[in-house]
Amino acid sequence: MSKKRIKELIEKLNKASYEYYILDNPTISDAEYDILYNELKGLEKKHPEYVLEDSPTQRVGAGVKEEFTKVKHLFPMLSLDNVFNFDQLNYFDSVVKKEFSKVDYTVEPKLDGLAVSLYYVNGVLKRAATRGDGTIGEDITENAKTIKTIPLSLKESITTEVRGEIFMNKESFKKLNEEREKNGDNLFANPRNAAAGSVRQLDSKITASRNLECSVYHLVEPAKYGINSQYESTKFLNEIGFNVNEEIKICSNLNCVENYIEEMTKKREELPYDIDGVVVKVDSFSQQAELGFTSKFPKWATAYKFPAETALTKLLDITFTVGRTGKVTPNAILEPVKVAGSTVRRATLHNEGYIIDRDIKIGDYVYIRKAGDVIPEVFKVELSKRDNVKAFKMAKNCPVCESELFKNEEDPIHYCININCDAQKLESIIHFVSRPAMNIDGLGEQNVRRFYEQGFLTKIIDIYYLKDKRENLIKEDRLGEKSVDNLIKAIEESKKNSLDKVLFGLGIRYVGSKTSKILAKKFKNIDNLIKASYDELLSIYEIGDKIASSIVEYFSNDENKKNIDQLKSVGINFTFESEEISDKFEGMVFVITGNLEGFKREELKEILEKNGARVSSTVSKNTSVVIYGHSPGSKLEKAKTLGIELWDEKTLGEKL
Ligand code: IVH
Repeated sequence: MSKKRIKELIEKLNKASYEYYILDNPTISDAEYDILYNELKGLEKKHPEYVLEDSPTQRVGAGVKEEFTKVKHLFPMLSLDNVFNFDQLNYFDSVVKKEFSKVDYTVEPKLDGLAVSLYYVNGVLKRAATRGDGTIGEDITENAKTIKTIPLSLKESITTEVRGEIFMNKESFKKLNEEREKNGDNLFANPRNAAAGSVRQLDSKITASRNLECSVYHLVEPAKYGINSQYESTKFLNEIGFNVNEEIKICSNLNCVENYIEEMTKKREELPYDIDGVVVKVDSFSQQAELGFTSKFPKWATAYKFPAETALTKLLDITFTVGRTGKVTPNAILEPVKVAGSTVRRATLHNEGYIIDRDIKIGDYVYIRKAGDVIPEVFKVELSKRDNVKAFKMAKNCPVCESELFKNEEDPIHYCININCDAQKLESIIHFVSRPAMNIDGLGEQNVRRFYEQGFLTKIIDIYYLKDKRENLIKEDRLGEKSVDNLIKAIEESKKNSLDKVLFGLGIRYVGSKTSKILAKKFKNIDNLIKASYDELLSIYEIGDKIASSIVEYFSNDENKKNIDQLKSVGINFTFESEEISDKFEGMVFVITGNLEGFKREELKEILEKNGARVSSTVSKNTSVVIYGHSPGSKLEKAKTLGIELWDEKTLGEKL
């Protein structure tokens, strides 16, 4: 009896929530809701064995976690490429139109929060995860459950992954900061930081108190539900229980997209939540599949970013900082000013040449601009306000180690070339432990800086000796015993990372995380890479002269080789941990076109890559095989004229 009543109450309450939060159309009063809720709570207390996962009582927040568990995304969570003006948007459209003469676009506000993946099994929320580095995120299920607009169960019993944005509306942000100010807590710079800070709470009760919202925009496997377009998928998502942004529209030409952007630019201020642009997506899923992805972005979407916000303020002074590569950057110290929702006190002036070209002087009124995550920069002087200014003088010595700065003739950049300079050492440690590199939890920038100042860390290798300093760390640092132990665990864990992670962490000039992966895959271990000649490196498709020279130079330096030996001696893995199944398609380039019955395109791409292939979206004479399904596009025709090998699905099945 109680079991049946519990189920009934949950259904009623969840329906009421959906009507209230998603449809914005309440059907019962708050008082009625409370009565039902209290009845449910009472019954669940008596019969804890009947508590269901989608009961609204599960939204209050569970216990305090020690750390977030890492989770691998089933499909990578990609980011979006950006455009900043209509010319660039036009170019995006022209690339799309090369493939298709008729394209519809969906246009959506770009919500300024943090991406979340929600995984439902038989209609019940099982896991929520952050984006992390796109491949591995963090399990935030308990925290996500506290967000009222994330349904705990769906109106259909389906197994699916959905993606969206968690954000905080402007009103809640204001209230939260007011409350924090009263309590003497640090204020959040903007709603996005407040949302991110609230989601990454180990105590989900804190998340529950923060009034977060979630709006979804991506259904991962739409074909499963016979859905053929982005616009249709948002309707479907809304019907099964999700909050979907009400401003989403469909456009049949670029003119309509541009009008929408203009409309949104005007409307932005009055919207109850922050947006930082408009996302433009090719609406048809079969066209999306044809267009495919680059290594980072879908080619079928782009984010139009609103122009940077600007402000005028006084330049009080110019100071200098040294980066990981020894580059010395002049920074503007400003009279604090509000831009794009946060207070700016410093901005970059890039380099000496930048300052001279713009005739910037200390005491001037300057315009600064800030766009999203980008560091604010000074971009113009207001000469009409100039009065009593002091000329700028570039530093001659490193602001940290005082050694004389070096500048070559070709570029306006000054470098500190003292390899023992504290600043460079510190910045290289921060880079080494960062997420795209060794990804050591608990060693964020703040902690590295403190440990450096306290003398626990002076160079990268010291990280791996922190475990011998456990007692001192507990005594002298403000981290508790548990945090120190978790940190040591994370450091030990990082030793197992694949070669690409540590390679990126070394900070070789021009070797970013993508190049590190390419190199790791190709050379398998660091010794092969150290031995590689300039020509051998150049023979790799994605590597050009600049990267090849930089790698050769890096490994010809004895100091660098010594550092690698030290890292090896503490047990760091320097081999590539391949996710590959075989190398039977090694060196081959595949292009996929048309709709396949037995494979989802992303899955097939992954399978081919795991067997050593490269998958490209354009047919050229370098293409080895074109795999085609139903209604193939122009790519099949092109492949035929070039005489490229063609596989239908049956042939593909035989070859795999
Ligand atoms: S689609 C594969 N749609 O913007 C494409 N993203 O800069 C996945 N975002 O990581 C993203 N609003 O966190 C998409 N309507 C929207 C969005 C949106 C905000 C965020 C999202 C993404 C980031 C990329």
